[in-house]
Amino acid sequence: MDNRPIGVFDSGLGGLTAVREIMKLLPNEDIVYFGDTGRVPYGSRSKQTITKYTRQDIRFLTKFDCKTILVACGTASSVALPQIKGDYDFPIIGVVEGAANRACQVTRNGKIGIIGTNATIKSGSYVRLISTRPEGFFTACAACPLFVPLVENSRISVEDKILKLAIEEYLTPVKNAGVDTLILGCTHYPIIAEAISAFMGDNVTLISPGLEAARILKEMPSFTPCEEKAAKHRFFVSDDVDLFSEQASLFLGQSVEGEVELINIEEI
Ligand code: DGL
Repeated sequence: MDNRPIGVFDSGLGGLTAVREIMKLLPNEDIVYFGDTGRVPYGSRSKQTITKYTRQDIRFLTKFDCKTILVACGTASSVALPQIKGDYDFPIIGVVEGAANRACQVTRNGKIGIIGTNATIKSGSYVRLISTRPEGFFTACAACPLFVPLVENSRISVEDKILKLAIEEYLTPVKNAGVDTLILGCTHYPIIAEAISAFMGDNVTLISPGLEAARILKEMPSFTPCEEKAAKHRFFVSDDVDLFSEQASLFLGQSVEGEVELINIEEI
């Protein structure tokens, strides 16, 4: 048994898509979450800056003696993690592998769409894993840089006009490519899955990287579960506590009021 917490971080709300799944799959585990809401979005920044932020986020979570850290950010997982993973002596997992593998398992016509932030798409992280497989999958990619600011500003309703316009603009080429599976390659995107699905159609399977990573975490040979107990969840942000509390409570379907604290990540 290992009662140390699981550390999870993202640039903002997106990582909660992984937290929600960990809460379901591993209900007794303590979780420490950091949402870097003061510096979101990561996806339009340079590799150097994303790597610096990722290192600071990990350093903050190490204060809690986490048994594992889940990088619940497609951008940090794609751009920074491959380079820095070896520098730590505890398991750190990202969100790319699980989503890429799941897409390859579920596609029926072999055509897989990948959407993500500018940095994620430019890194080629998902394409690399998918195209090296022997099946000869076709991939169609699109960067969707406005999706993260829209989610962070609660523009998530399926009826939201600006969201609908952004979805149509970014996803039309991917839809026209005939994909039957779409990797939501940024952990913020499952929060707007309903609107994305309304545009892509019911026959397109959406893959959530946070959900797949939570499944992998549970199955990892190096993961030792905690004893049966009530779980403690702590949330930290680098900007407005109230805004995050409100959005997170809605998204997790349970109140996080009083569990969210402000930190200065630049001092870490
Ligand atoms: N949730 C992050 C990701 O998965 C958002 C990146 C950003 O802040 O631009 O890529």
